[in-house]
Amino acid sequence: MYWDKFYCGGSLIRDDTVLTAAHCVVNRKPYTFDVILGDINWTTKKETLDIRRQVIRIDIHPRFAQRATFDYDFALLKLHSRINFDIISFIRPACLPFYDQDDLLTGQIGTVSGWGVIDPKNPTVQANILQKTNVEIMNTQECKNGYPASEVTSTMFCAKANSTDSCYGDSGGPLTVNQDGVHVLEGVISWGKNCAKPQWPGVYSNVGKVLRWIRDHTRDAHSCWQDAI
Ligand code: ARG
Repeated sequence: MYWDKFYCGGSLIRDDTVLTAAHCVVNRKPYTFDVILGDINWTTKKETLDIRRQVIRIDIHPRFAQRATFDYDFALLKLHSRINFDIISFIRPACLPFYDQDDLLTGQIGTVSGWGVIDPKNPTVQANILQKTNVEIMNTQECKNGYPASEVTSTMFCAKANSTDSCYGDSGGPLTVNQDGVHVLEGVISWGKNCAKPQWPGVYSNVGKVLRWIRDHTRDAHSCWQDAI
């Protein structure tokens, strides 16, 4: 998402809908920032054609921040006009899980990506080129050890790796898990203390927990599985 610069990530899940983190948009109004799709290097206009859309509606999850600061950190952005996938062949919607994976996610490898901070010691420098890295999804109970336990809720999961992580500015962006060759959007980058510190894992909103809410708020438009199956 773009507002003077890239400030948060997001994932296209329908031809007119982006899933992001609630905390990225909670104080924003529609039409005050843009969603940019299909970009790689946000500082140049040359490499890929990027698609820019205004946001006409913001749906923040009704339970956002009620039980804990980042509980239900989900928002849906409705785009001003839909992406015609017949014409725009380099942009595709992300696949959502079919059901709540819950404990099955523990131990799986997630891929996180974004234009966020590369080195937490230089927190003002964001990536120009889209970055990605892999993190291992961990047991939520173990994750609570490093944080105030009540801040890590049942709608989140945690993930970490050796000296790599998502970081500031990546929020809202995807954590995907390769399920039989399909990259499934299981997590939304949400929060963490510092970045890539072993005692403080990255914390993600668990997409499987809100499938019903997503379905109720998106019309039955083109979704990922039409391409994947
Ligand atoms: N809250 C951050 C953002 O707004 C994302 C932080 C993720 N942190 C982490 N250590 N994995 O961009």
